[in-house]
Amino acid sequence: MNITPLVGKQRLSVELATARLNIWDGSVRSSKSISSLFKWMKFVREAPAGPLLMVGKTERTLKRNIIDPLIEMLGEKRCKYVAGLGELHLFGRLIYTVGAYNEGSEDKIRGLSLVGAYVDEASTIPESFWVMLLTRLSIPGAQLYATTNPEGPQHWLLVDYLEKARLWVDHGGQVHRQDGPDTLNLHRFSFILADNPNLTREYIEDISAEASGLWYKRLILGQWVLAEGVIWESWDPARHVVAELPAIQQWLCLTADYGTTNPFHALLIGLGHDGRLYVGHEWRWDSKKQRGALTDAEYSERVRAWVTGLGISPQYTIIDPSAKSFRTELHRAGWTSTMADNEVEDGVRDVGSLFATGRLLVHSSCKELIKEIPGYSWDPEASEKGDDKPLKVNDHGCDALRYGIRTTRNIWHGQLAPPSKAA
Ligand SMILES: Nc1ncnc2c1ncn2[C@@H]1O[C@H](COP(=O)(O)OP(=O)(O)OP(=O)(O)O)[C@@H](O)[C@H]1O
Ligand SMILES: [Mg+2]
Repeated sequence: MNITPLVGKQRLSVELATARLNIWDGSVRSSKSISSLFKWMKFVREAPAGPLLMVGKTERTLKRNIIDPLIEMLGEKRCKYVAGLGELHLFGRLIYTVGAYNEGSEDKIRGLSLVGAYVDEASTIPESFWVMLLTRLSIPGAQLYATTNPEGPQHWLLVDYLEKARLWVDHGGQVHRQDGPDTLNLHRFSFILADNPNLTREYIEDISAEASGLWYKRLILGQWVLAEGVIWESWDPARHVVAELPAIQQWLCLTADYGTTNPFHALLIGLGHDGRLYVGHEWRWDSKKQRGALTDAEYSERVRAWVTGLGISPQYTIIDPSAKSFRTELHRAGWTSTMADNEVEDGVRDVGSLFATGRLLVHSSCKELIKEIPGYSWDPEASEKGDDKPLKVNDHGCDALRYGIRTTRNIWHGQLAPPSKAA
């Protein structure tokens, strides 16, 4: 990796990262990691003797986001990682590495006395781990460096730490200092895309176009905003509903959200020759509106009859993870299914990004899905608690859609037409 000298806010942040806690927050790709790593490398070389620690959500993400770039920058001689032991040797100093993915992770650092710590993506680690980590930084001169993307405005990292910073370099580059009974020995650096001169204008335009709604505000503008209102803000029937399907090069999946008292909603998603994804057909059974509930065997029979009748054989059959009995029934009937990827945030973000870039369209026959999409909303109570997820009401077609899109990502990713802008 060819690293260019740090400039502007990058350099300023390295100079000003002199507090006990130093946190870089803001937009994706805005050079928070590179800037903080410059400071961390300097610290590791100069710090008083004592144990050092690097933390990621998991050891795998820490390696990918932080350790691999460090090795690339410095070479194996100055930076060597022994994955099995979770040890990094940086400029001859030993650094422990840990993943902090659940509430029990704090046990991994209990009892340590640290002189320095580096935390990647701090908002994704449990608060209990963070609190424990701060108590471990007990050697005089101990410092912590961390990066984070924004989350909701109630997130503990914002409320209990970032907003109490003694020094803050804001998004525009202004330096604020505050002093009061509540302030912490913490310096905060808020980055935006413009702070990274190594991104091309084209790249910035692309990632800005791909992020819509909530993700635009958080990941592009770097704001700590609440997940509220409509999830897929760029949805516009005039733009996204088509009366005719183009030639489909590949039917990627049959995807279904299973329900017995709730509706059962299945969709067929294909990749068009035009490089766009199409929800081509839907099948829905609402036991409250139709004539009673169906058994798993009846569902299996009718869904298969529907797909076969259309003359389509989808590459995957994707079923929501909670529908174990239905998957068993399909299997019994000789139909292999795949458990849906139910990472809610990833799925809704993928669909949102595809709508925003005009690369996911819906055939007009999918009436129930088209009815549901504009009402698919963030759950305000969950958002207040920092757990962003969709409201569980009239969400069946939308859930099936995010399962299908997320689970087939490896197939369509890289095969799509360039983004198209809203009219
Ligand atoms: N000084 C530099 N020289 C060369 N490339 C740089 C420099 N600073 C940043 N970059 C490049 O810009 C990209 C984004 O930087 P970085 O990973 O630090 O951003 P980030 O804010 O941590 O992003 P994310 O939120 O996605 O983790 C990286 O690909 C990095 O290599
Ligand atoms: Mg980063």
